[in-house]
Amino acid sequence: MKFEIKRICCIGAGYVGGPTMAVIADKCPNIIVTVLDINSQRILDWNDKNLSNLPVYEPGLDAIISRCRDINLFFSTNIKEEISRSDMIFLSVNTPTKTKGIGAGQASDLKWIEASAREVAKYAKGKTIVVEKSTLPVRTAQTIKLILEAENDKKSSQENKNEFFILSNPEFLAEGTAINDLNNPDRVLIGGENEFAINALSKIYENWIDRSKILRTNLWSSELSKLTANAFLAQRISSINSISGLCEKTGADISEVSQAIGMDKRIGSFFLKAGPGFGGSCFKKDILNLIYLCNYYGLPEVADYWEGVIKINQWQQSRLTEIIVSKLFGTIAEKYIAILGFSFKSNTNDTRESPAINICKDLINEGAKLRIYDPKVSKEKIEIDLKQNEADNLKSSENISWYYSSSILDATKGVDGIVVLTEWDEFKNINWHEICKYTRKPTYLFDSRNICDLDRAKKENLKIWKLGS
Ligand code: NAD
Ligand code: UGA
Repeated sequence: MKFEIKRICCIGAGYVGGPTMAVIADKCPNIIVTVLDINSQRILDWNDKNLSNLPVYEPGLDAIISRCRDINLFFSTNIKEEISRSDMIFLSVNTPTKTKGIGAGQASDLKWIEASAREVAKYAKGKTIVVEKSTLPVRTAQTIKLILEAENDKKSSQENKNEFFILSNPEFLAEGTAINDLNNPDRVLIGGENEFAINALSKIYENWIDRSKILRTNLWSSELSKLTANAFLAQRISSINSISGLCEKTGADISEVSQAIGMDKRIGSFFLKAGPGFGGSCFKKDILNLIYLCNYYGLPEVADYWEGVIKINQWQQSRLTEIIVSKLFGTIAEKYIAILGFSFKSNTNDTRESPAINICKDLINEGAKLRIYDPKVSKEKIEIDLKQNEADNLKSSENISWYYSSSILDATKGVDGIVVLTEWDEFKNINWHEICKYTRKPTYLFDSRNICDLDRAKKENLKIWKLGS
């Protein structure tokens, strides 16, 4: 069956939909790509003339947007029209953990995916390939198929009926390196039942990716591989973080242990950096979803195994606060503490599930006054993150318990402790001589990422705690 893809659209203009479609538009000048969202402010931001106002910060993204926007890349809220004229529709909406009802706290909330499938069912015309880009529980394609077919069944004549083909094409990009990951992926995974639809999607990727890296599987393997990949990555971080605690008790050094084990090819060196715990919108929710699925399918032992990864991650975050309190003489009440880094990793403005959120809340709970600096996270975002469900905690009776700082120097003035939580480059070469002129002595540096120049810090008589040694 010959079918040329001329127009594609993507429902969901978030961290995945925006960058992914921008790269497709960049690599496929003959395809018109439109990214859609119900959030009109998000679309306005994607269309902002000032590229520093784009809703997603990713190195290299602004250059692509300026090359392609309004040429073959569009951002729009006109969902009905774009669906009706697209040959291929990507679903890239959010799939967070359910907060209430059956499976609350574990299962994925599929209401956004269902709503977008219903939009597709209503407005699509003719032959349409529907691509799952969101991360979904295994067998979701079955649900999407039922929704699309039900709408079709209502249509009277054969001519009006659509033909839908469903593919699973999970995204493996990591934030902060999204453009590079999209340009040079380790693999592209396409799961499906229909050869012609798989070929059509593969052809798009073949514009810049070698065929040998485009892996074809059945739908369920593709859906489950995405959850499994995230679970394995998170498991490595929890494994190394668990050992960081043991290093602190025994005189071993976690950086040396990571290097030593990572040089074994069978283990590999990636994802072995100990830190304050993994954050980001997906690891936790995807493992929780895996746990839910295992229990649902009657595999409680498997569920328990993955539960351990989440438990260690929580432990790693909470033990950091305990260490800070203990080093600062058992109390941090009314003490000023600098927080360097609020995003969940460097090179992104995303704070979803950032370890900084829990750690800051815990420190505030202990009575500390925080001075928070992050190169890319806005004051408004921190305000939302710290106020969520915590309004009472956040205001001590006399004063506000955290301040937004616009530089490292500003954040560290008068503090007793400096806590590095994100591995931003600018924290690697801090001028400790300058900083220490204004801190209260003794000043403690807590390096939870093992990135600071500790030799320079020691020269300034900073007291140092570094993770895992
Ligand atoms: P996001 O929250 O940044 O973006 C989702 C967007 O979808 C939002 O802007 C929302 O308004 C929009 N939306 C929701 N329902 C809609 C509807 N019915 N019609 C139109 N727009 C709608 O989420 P994200 O980080 O881009 O993640 C999307 C999916 O990709 C998730 O399943 C996630 O697990 C997966 N994923 C994320 C990453 C990542 O790095 N963030 C990487 C790989 C996979
Ligand atoms: C992760 C995966 O790496 C992507 O492949 C996947 O597509 C994505 O989740 C997703 O599905 O959302 P992301 O969360 O953006 O990407 O970033 P990572 O680089 O994986 O980092 C996640 C967290 O782990 C961060 O908090 C990071 O600081 C932490 N981390 C990572 C460590 O503590 N140590 C490491 O060695 C690596």
